[in-house]
Amino acid sequence: MPNTTIQFLQQRRSVVAKKMIDQAPSPSDLQTILNCGLRVPDHSNVQPWQIVVISGEMRRKFGEEVVVPAARRRAAADNQPFSDVIEEVEASRLQRAGCVIAVLCTPTVPHKIPLWEQQLSSAAVCMQLLNAAQALDYAAQWITEWLTYDVDIIRALGGKPQQDQVAGFIYIGAKSEPPTERARPDPESKISHWQA
Ligand SMILES: Cc1cc2nc3c(=O)[nH]c(=O)nc-3n(C[C@H](O)[C@H](O)[C@H](O)COP(=O)(O)O)c2cc1C
Repeated sequence: MPNTTIQFLQQRRSVVAKKMIDQAPSPSDLQTILNCGLRVPDHSNVQPWQIVVISGEMRRKFGEEVVVPAARRRAAADNQPFSDVIEEVEASRLQRAGCVIAVLCTPTVPHKIPLWEQQLSSAAVCMQLLNAAQALDYAAQWITEWLTYDVDIIRALGGKPQQDQVAGFIYIGAKSEPPTERARPDPESKISHWQA
């Protein structure tokens, strides 16, 4: 009997946000994806992450009320122009997807579990959300972009910029066409078997 999980993992492929259709997952699929995202390895059960779903009209509101002001502030700080075209790109950034799931790493520091392990667990949340969305046949991509490193964005997501970080934004939509394969690493150059 074929192992469908292994088949999926061997074939899964991201669809870039600009190519996806901005159709949201069904509420029950979204719940499934979110539940999968919480089922990750987490040393000592620290739960060093928070998930923030931005869907429906909130994608535009987040764009207009959070992303645009942050982008404008950055442009001003860099002495760069902020045109109407740039404003629209930023306002509609999240609307490339039907739904965007932000994953915040909210570590407990100091803690007996090192910060690095808490960050790794946050990355696992991103990967699990991505896998779940792709397993349900949605178009999905793990994106960081400049938003990840902006203090106002972190604050708007409920994080504390001094200690929390965005692990990623998981964009989820529908496929407009089957994704083509991309170059994959040569196993010979990445895998070795240690020998004494
Ligand atoms: C932490 C992280 C951040 C990423 N940020 C971006 C990004 O900002 N923009 C982008 O186009 N791709 C980004 N990528 C890469 C995309 O997710 C890309 O679609 C992916 O590497 C395709 O590989 P896959 O088909 O194996 O999933 C990022 C990947 C990771 C792991």
